[in-house]
This record gives sequence, C-alpha cells and structure tokens, in this order.
Amino acid sequence: MDNAAMKSIMSEWQGIIERRLEELSRPSARSPYAPIYDTVRYSLLNAGKRIRPILTLEFCRAAGADPMTALDCACAVEMIHTYSLIHDDLPCMDDDDFRRGKPSCHKVYGEATALLAGDALQSMSALTIASCTTAPADRLLAASAELARLDGPEGMIGGQLIDMDSEGKSISVDTLRAMVTGKTCALIEAACVIGCRIAGADDKVIAAARDYAMNLGLAFQIIDDILDVEGDPKLLGKPVASDAGNEKSNYVSIMGLDGARRFAKLYTDNAIAALAPMGDSADFLTAFAAYLLGRVS
Ligand code: IPE
Ligand code: IPE
Ligand code: MG
Ligand code: MG
Ligand code: MG
Repeated sequence: MDNAAMKSIMSEWQGIIERRLEELSRPSARSPYAPIYDTVRYSLLNAGKRIRPILTLEFCRAAGADPMTALDCACAVEMIHTYSLIHDDLPCMDDDDFRRGKPSCHKVYGEATALLAGDALQSMSALTIASCTTAPADRLLAASAELARLDGPEGMIGGQLIDMDSEGKSISVDTLRAMVTGKTCALIEAACVIGCRIAGADDKVIAAARDYAMNLGLAFQIIDDILDVEGDPKLLGKPVASDAGNEKSNYVSIMGLDGARRFAKLYTDNAIAALAPMGDSADFLTAFAAYLLGRVS
C-alpha cells in the first residue's frame, strides 16, 4: 500500500473515531454533572492523531473481521490515552501548558477538574466496553482485561512512574527500555491486541500483534523524544524542549540524536517484520509503521 492510500484510510478512520467519541462523551439528559463532560470533551475531542484507535480497527480488519465491530473498543482505548495526556501535563508531572494545539486541560479548567476529567475518562472507557453491542460478551471481557492490565501498574502506570523517578538521573538502557515499554508500548499493545480479540483471532495473530506493538511503541516514543528536540511546536501542538527542561531521561538524552534515529528505524523494521504471519491483510499496518517513523506531528 502506498503512502497516499494509507493516509486516505487514516483520515477516514479519524473522522469515524471522532464522531463516535463525540457520541460516547455526551452527558445523559438528566445528568447534574454536565460541567465535567465539558472538560472531558475539551481534551478528548481536540485534534489527536487517533493512532491507537486506528490500530485497534486495523488489527480487527487484519484478523478477518468487520473493523466497525471494534469501534467502541477503539474509542475506549482513546479515552484512556486522553486521560494519560491530561495527567501527564499536570504540574506534578511534566508541567506542560499546551496539548493538541490548545492550552492543556488544567490551564483551562484548573488542576482539580483536570485530575477528575482524567479519572472520568477511565470510568467512561470501562463503561464503553461493557455497554458495547457489536461484539460477543466473551470477546469484550477479553478486551477489557487486556486494557486494564496494560494501562495499569504492569504497563502504562508503571512506565510513567519510572519516567518520573528518572528525572535528573542517569539511567541504564535496560531501565530506559522498561520505562518506554510501560509508558508507551503497553497502551499501544492494548490497542492492537483488542482489535484481534474483538475479531476472535488465534494465538499466532495475537503474538504477532504484541510483537508489532512493542516495536512500534518503542519507535513511536523515540520519535516523540526526537521531536521534543527538533520538532516544530506549531505542528506538534505541544511544547518542545519539555524533556530537557524537566531533565528527563529519554532516548535522545541517553543515545544522542543519531543513536535515537538508528533505534527508531531498527524498531520500525522489527515491527514490520512482526507482521509477516499476517500476510497481505496487514498492508495498512506496514505502511502505517513506515509513516509514523517519518512523522512531524
Ligand atoms: C503522545 O501521544 C504521548 C506519547 C506516548 C508520546 P500521541 O503523539 O499519540 O498524542 P496525540 O493523541 O496525537 O495527541
Ligand atoms: C507520555 O510520554 C506517555 C504517557 C502519556 C503515558 P511523554 O511525556 O513524552 O508524552 P508527551 O511528549 O508529553 O506527549
Ligand atoms: Mg511524560
Ligand atoms: Mg509529557
Ligand atoms: Mg514526549
């Protein structure tokens, strides 16, 4: 699949995901708590790239099912991702003032409301999977278990803790890898595997999805670290030089820009190689990995 064909599928998915996120984040007619939904929707409906939900949909398709059956689960993953960004930007974490091209959630609504909006997104994510009617209950349960395991202390939260604990320190390459495996790869793994689970994929496909996700996640975070040094904040929609300002340990601080670029390429190649058992059905996922390596936003 060429880049133009991949990009047109990507933008079609972005529209479908955003319309469904809009529906799923409306307060009920009788809710006395409408203001928290305003905060949630401010962050959720802003211009995210929707990488993770696209992965869910495309793995569902590659595993042989109708990708639309995974749409709600894809949105549930994006809710978790958005909560992680709201909390990541808080002053007690990375203290960043811009996100998705607008002032960060806490700059508009205050820290306490931003914290609660992140919490709300976790509940909304769980409810979205539990209420989904497009897949059988056993597959939804498997999807929900993947998400809870990988976004929790064994995954994203664990990685975020290493990230915070590593500020101002010199860490080993093993610790660096464990940090990224947790904070970034784990949710990407959830996104990919959930698409497979909704399709009822076999163990071989799920193993390929995990392998792809791990390598794609490493490459994705390395590019994020590089863009923090040489990216354009207008295109990124978030500040640059945030990591240096916080004395973060990351791939660039530890390996330098050239080393980081080499690793990003290596992990992207590994991700593409992991798709071999899936044959032509993974054409989009191959093109997507190559595109993400060259991204500028
Ligand atoms: C940012 O994720 C956080 C990282 C794991 C690097 P994205 O770059 O996917 O952010 P959005 O969703 O497009 O805003
Ligand atoms: C964020 O990593 C990872 C999570 C939000 C879980 P970063 O802190 O590098 O992400 P950005 O650069 O703020 O988007
Ligand atoms: Mg961070
Ligand atoms: Mg950050
Ligand atoms: Mg970053």
